[in-house]
Amino acid sequence: RRQRQMCIRDSHTLISQCRKDFPILKREVNGYPLAYLDNAATTQKPKSVIDAITNFYENHNSNVSRGVYTLAEEATEIYESGRDAVANFIGAEDSGTIIFTSGTTESINLVASAWVQKNLKKGDRIILTEMEHHSNIVPWQLAAKSYGIELVYWPVTPEGRLDLALLEELLTNSVKLLAFTMVSNVLGSINPVEQITKIAHSHGVPVLVDSAQAVSRMSIKVSEWDCDFLAFSGHKVYGPTGIGVLYAKKERLEEMMPFQGGGGMISHVEKQSSTWAVPPQKFEAGTPPVAQVPGLKAALEYLEQYGIKEIERHDNELTEHALNQLTEFPDLELYGPSEIQNRTGVVSFNLQNVHSHDVAQVLDESGIALRAGHHCTQVLHERLGVPATVRMSFGIYNDPSEIDRMFSALDQARAIFLH
Ligand code: ALA
Repeated sequence: RRQRQMCIRDSHTLISQCRKDFPILKREVNGYPLAYLDNAATTQKPKSVIDAITNFYENHNSNVSRGVYTLAEEATEIYESGRDAVANFIGAEDSGTIIFTSGTTESINLVASAWVQKNLKKGDRIILTEMEHHSNIVPWQLAAKSYGIELVYWPVTPEGRLDLALLEELLTNSVKLLAFTMVSNVLGSINPVEQITKIAHSHGVPVLVDSAQAVSRMSIKVSEWDCDFLAFSGHKVYGPTGIGVLYAKKERLEEMMPFQGGGGMISHVEKQSSTWAVPPQKFEAGTPPVAQVPGLKAALEYLEQYGIKEIERHDNELTEHALNQLTEFPDLELYGPSEIQNRTGVVSFNLQNVHSHDVAQVLDESGIALRAGHHCTQVLHERLGVPATVRMSFGIYNDPSEIDRMFSALDQARAIFLH
């Protein structure tokens, strides 16, 4: 026990050092130090990420994969070394399986268009879960309408989990894809990707993993897990906006039509038809997010200096701290698992009889930034039986004292709305 306590203290020291690296954390909001608890929506950026982007524009700016002059070659090298860094970070054996997109949403739209078009037909089914955010629902609805596909939902249990036995029942012969999130952006539940992938594969069904909420919190091992597709956004992993990643297994890449047409994705263009570049360039039409790549690379390097294990430990500590307090108040309702196992630092709740937007507005007056509403998960909120929730979501720079401030500030909401 003593040893465990020491570990917790050490990790605390390590992570709390990082606050100084994030310029925005120095600012005040409404006369209070900013307590940024909306990391599921987007994360703040360390100076090294901001500097990497500035450095690119100041010293290397050029388009990529086109010019033969020095700057163009430098920019191309920077861009491709970012691809290698991403492959390494998510445990992909080959950086040719990494496609740069504008974010998770575009990554999923890419698969829902380019892969579905060639591999699914009328009457086929896609399984989604009830805990998906809209980026992992709406692209499939569009594909379903275009190709006559049926969407089937894997229900969320009352504890906010996915029941693996139910998946076995849903995996009928007409199912051609399972798309699911690794971490719920509302419930905080962690879904066992490797196990789910194994079950789906045993029925011959490929999987797409939405790791938007997971990638900044836990290690990702696409090759080991054997998942077919994996998507995430740069801005949720302390990197810039405007860049995302789609990982796709080599054989899946070969099964895909082009997504968008334009420069960079072709081999040869004639008046009436064209031939395609090889993947990943086949899926990167037009000028890609060039300056964002060194920013994303710097973000991944920044996380690696702390190590994902330390980050996970810190996240667990904050989650436990929040859950312990939340369960003490009878007027707070928690949505999502109350135990810490297989759960991460996304904690949603409601203050009885008070709308989540009112709560968030009162908290903002004390410098606390968190999200209220349906968090782009209306299907899940329908399942939960509420239109909206208040959500705290933690990042590496958060401190337990910020969570304490949130609970104290809730008293003001109680005073205003309940008395
Ligand atoms: N999916 C993002 C969130 O949960 C936008 O806030």
